[in-house]
Amino acid sequence: MESRPAVDDDALAHEALSVLDANWTGSATVPAPGLYPHQWSWDSIFVAIGLARWKTGRAMAELRGALSGQWRDGMVPHVVFHSGDPYFPGPKMWRSEDHKDAPHGLPTSGLTAPPLHAYAVWWIWRHHGEAVAGFVREVFPRLAAQHAYLAAFRDLGGAGLASIVHPWESGMDDSPTWDLPLAALPRSIYGFRHDDAPGDYTDHFVWLAKRYRDSGYRPEYLSQEHPFAVEDPMFNGVWLAACEALAELAPVAGADPRPHTERAAHIRAALLERLWDGGGFHARDLRTGRLLRLSTVGSFGPLLDPGMPGERVESMVRMLSSARFMGAAGYPVPSCDIRAEQFDRGRYWRGPSWVNMNWLLCRAAAVHGLEELAAALASDTLRLVRQAGFRECFDPFDGSGRGCRDFSWSAALALDLLADEGATGGGAGRCA
Ligand code: GLC
Repeated sequence: MESRPAVDDDALAHEALSVLDANWTGSATVPAPGLYPHQWSWDSIFVAIGLARWKTGRAMAELRGALSGQWRDGMVPHVVFHSGDPYFPGPKMWRSEDHKDAPHGLPTSGLTAPPLHAYAVWWIWRHHGEAVAGFVREVFPRLAAQHAYLAAFRDLGGAGLASIVHPWESGMDDSPTWDLPLAALPRSIYGFRHDDAPGDYTDHFVWLAKRYRDSGYRPEYLSQEHPFAVEDPMFNGVWLAACEALAELAPVAGADPRPHTERAAHIRAALLERLWDGGGFHARDLRTGRLLRLSTVGSFGPLLDPGMPGERVESMVRMLSSARFMGAAGYPVPSCDIRAEQFDRGRYWRGPSWVNMNWLLCRAAAVHGLEELAAALASDTLRLVRQAGFRECFDPFDGSGRGCRDFSWSAALALDLLADEGATGGGAGRCA
């Protein structure tokens, strides 16, 4: 039986903390019990952000756990396997420990995740300042190495943007943005699935991961041979925001902020030059050279850039508020343009709303002084979890819960929004 919705803020916060306590394993918070039994890097980022003002020590431990999987070349893997709990694809598939750069005694995946880690560290710093300076100094070199890895080995297009080499690296695994590049993979790799269930690319996902693994996770293989290479506006918007965060953290760690502000400027220029098509930001498929002209929640990633030119911000906000996204849905933010043929209100990343995306866009709105939009995103997201619980995602029309229950980032980010309410009494300016 569904539990009754928690209507008041204290009860909601209490429930969120209980979910996060139950999902904490001692070294990390799993995204959800059962379905996701290991540490997913970007889930941990949102958990750390959410816990920053409630359980600061755990927020820091969460990030340490995610960064403990870092490879010597700087790559932060998207999953860290702290335990032997069965999961596919698990350590046997990834074989990280065969790689000279991977940590010993701690299996990880071989792919990376949206690089929001520095931002999460900055979030903790922003709320606690000097009290967490030691933590900032401790993790700064790892964060700098993560960014250096992206710049050195993932700028496959050579223009300053990082490419993802697998949909799992975007965090938006089933987004229809990847349909075209996935459909272009050799037909022989899939059996019945694709024809029986269009949009089910499970076989492709595993095939792509194995190909990269079988190359020995070699950077030259990625640049020259790997069939999936996409410059994604969300991944790069996140990276840009993380560069700005790293620049602000640099003086705390006794480092020079300039390389990080310069990198942010470089990413901004490349986003505008390569992913903007006049109406919005779209991912670019490096294997065909073409833009993948579908608007999804990922198209709003560049809004996270505080330095984005005003007219671009206005046009993204117009699109976000239009009937193609928030304007027609009862709840923010559908993960795909409602008018697109690929929109499906019930399928992961092809329509449902996700709390982490709402939170990021709430932050982006606040950064650009769009207080009404920020307040609407915050209160409507709280309305979702109040009504349907800490579900994995939500139907954007009626707000009903989808996917698993007791989902960590939904609980954690609700806590963050509740902390804002407490701090300002609610209303405009939340999440600023
Ligand atoms: C799914 C989501 C991804 C998330 C993971 C664990 O794969 O698409 O964003 O990190 O689950 O929650």
